[in-house]
Amino acid sequence: MKVEIIPPTEGNFNLEDYQKTYDHFDWSEVEKEFSWYKTGKINTAYEAIDRHLQTGKGDKVALYYFDQTRDESYTFADLSKLSNKFGNVLRKLGIQKGDRVFVFMPRTPELYVSVLGTIKVGAIIGPLFEAFMEGAVRDRLQDSEAVAIVTTPALLPRIPLADLPHLKHVIVVGEQADLPAGVISYHEEMKAVSDELEIEWVDREDGLILHYTSGSTGKPKGVLHVHNAMIQHYQTGKWVLDLQDDDIFWCTADPGWVTGTSYGIFAPWLNGATSVIRGGRFTPDDWYRTIEKYKVTVWYSAPTSFRMLMGAGDELVQRYDLSSLRHVLSVGEPLNPEVVYWGQKVFKQRIHDTWWMTETGGQLICNYKCMPIKPGSMGKPLPGIYATILDDQGNELPPNRMGNLAIRVGWPSMMRQIWKNPAKYQEYFYVPGWYISGDSAYKDEDGYFWFQGRIDDVINTSGERVGPFEVESKLVEHPAVAEAGVIGKPDPVRGEIIKAFIALRDGYEPSDALMEEIRKFVKEGLAAHAAPREIEFRDKLPKTRSGKIMRRVLKAWELGLPTGDTSTMED
Ligand code: WTA
Repeated sequence: MKVEIIPPTEGNFNLEDYQKTYDHFDWSEVEKEFSWYKTGKINTAYEAIDRHLQTGKGDKVALYYFDQTRDESYTFADLSKLSNKFGNVLRKLGIQKGDRVFVFMPRTPELYVSVLGTIKVGAIIGPLFEAFMEGAVRDRLQDSEAVAIVTTPALLPRIPLADLPHLKHVIVVGEQADLPAGVISYHEEMKAVSDELEIEWVDREDGLILHYTSGSTGKPKGVLHVHNAMIQHYQTGKWVLDLQDDDIFWCTADPGWVTGTSYGIFAPWLNGATSVIRGGRFTPDDWYRTIEKYKVTVWYSAPTSFRMLMGAGDELVQRYDLSSLRHVLSVGEPLNPEVVYWGQKVFKQRIHDTWWMTETGGQLICNYKCMPIKPGSMGKPLPGIYATILDDQGNELPPNRMGNLAIRVGWPSMMRQIWKNPAKYQEYFYVPGWYISGDSAYKDEDGYFWFQGRIDDVINTSGERVGPFEVESKLVEHPAVAEAGVIGKPDPVRGEIIKAFIALRDGYEPSDALMEEIRKFVKEGLAAHAAPREIEFRDKLPKTRSGKIMRRVLKAWELGLPTGDTSTMED
C-alpha cells in the first residue's frame, strides 16, 4: 500500500514548540505546578484530584461511569472525599507507606477510588487484570508480598489465601451474604470512616505503582514506577493527548494494563479533564454509543479495537453521532495504515499512533497533532527524549537501517526497579547509557520511527503482552503434555494469536477433545487471554542440544519460512 502523508491539524502543542524543545526539554519547568516545588514532597493522587479543589474545579465531573446496571458521575470533590475515606480504611488496617495493596476487580468507580486512596496513604498500588486466574494471581501476589487486596465476591475464589502468608487483608466490593473469615466489606468499612485524611507526603522517588508484565523467559516481572512519573503523565497529556479544559476523554484500556493507569487515571486527572469509564462487556454498538452519549472529544484506544470496529462495518458508524470527536489515538501494537485510512474516512479523524511500554511508564514516540502523519509509523520522540536504532554491538545506525529501538536513559516515568530482581532490571541496560526496548525498528530520513517486530518471543495478542514461557509452563502442568512451545501467529484482528505446539506423553493420543481440554486448562489456570487459540500436536519439538525449545523454528514452520541457522538443533 502506498503511504499517503496526512497533513497536520491544530492542537495546543505546535511544531515550533516541538522543534524548539526537541534536543533539550527542561522537565523541571513542569514541576512548578506541583506541590514539591513548594514543599519538596509530593503525592500523585493529591495532584490528580485534590489539587483541582483549590482552583475551583471541585464541582467539575472527573468521572462518568456507565455499564449494564449503573450510570453515575463523580466530581473531583466526590473523588477527593471517597479516596480520603478509602485511605482511612487502609490506615485503620495498619497499611503503611511502601506496602503493596492490590486491586483485582472489573472497572467500576470503586476500583478508581481504591487506587487513589491507596496512593494517598503512600502505599504502592498493584493492579491485576480481572481475567487472571488463580495461578497468575498467586505468582503476582507472592512476588510482591502484597499485604492487602480489593476484589469482588466473584473473583474472591481465585485468590489462594492459604498460599499467601503476607496477605493480611481482603476487602470485598459488592454484596455477599457470608464473608469468609478475615474478609471485610468495602461498603461497611467506607461507611465507618471520615472523609478527611492526612495525606502521606512522599518523595518523588518513592514507589507509586507496580505493574506485572511478561518477558520471554521466567515469571512475570514487577515493573515499579515512582511518583516522579506523574511529570511525564501530565506533560504527555498536554503534548500527545492534547487535553484541554473542556475535554471529555475516553481511554478504553483496563487499569490491569499500564495504559489503563498512566492514561486511564493519571494523565487525564492530572490535567483536570473529565474521564469516561465504560464498564462490563461491550459490543461495537456500545463503543459508538459511548462516544455519542458523553460527546467524547479525545479517544485513546488500540489497533485491535479499531480493527474490530472496522470489521463491524461503516454502516454502523453512520448510525451514531460521533461529531464530538476531535482527537483519536492508538497504542499497544502496530497500527496498520489501512486502519488509519479507514479512520480518516469514517471518523473524519487522523488516528495518532503512540509507542511506549510498561517499563517506560509513559509515551515516548508519538504522532502529534501538529505534525504530518505517515501511516504505519509510530511518529517521533517526545521533546527531551532521544530515541535511536542500535546494532547488536551498541552502535547507532544511520536512517533506514533496522535494529534495536533504544532510548537514552533518564526520563521522568522510566521504571526504577524490577521488583526484587536487580539482575532482570540490568538486562534492559546492557549497552551502557541506553534503555534497550526489545523492539526492532528503523528511523527514516525525516526522523519518523517504524516498528518492525519484537526481538524476543513476547507475544502481543489484542494489545496484551503474553510471555510464551508462562503459557508453556502452564501447558506442561497438564498430565497429557510432555513438551510445549508457544508462539505468536499473525492474525488480522488480534495482531497475533497464541499458538501452541505440543508433544504428548506416552499413552495420550491427539484429539479435538484433548485440544479443548488443554485450552480450558490454561484458561482456568492462567487467564483467558493467555490460552492458545490454536494447538498443533507434534511427535517431537525442535530443540537445541541443551534442550531449549526453539520457538524461532516453530515460527518459521508456521509461516512457511526458512528455518535459518539450525546448527544448534538436536537431531
Ligand atoms: C508493543 C503498552 C507497535 C511493542 C503501552 C512494545 C507497539 C509492547 C506500539 C509494550 C506501537 C506498543 N506500535 N508496537 N505504537 N505500542 N507496542 O508493555 O512491542 O503492554 O514493546 O505497553 O507493545 O507493551 P506493554
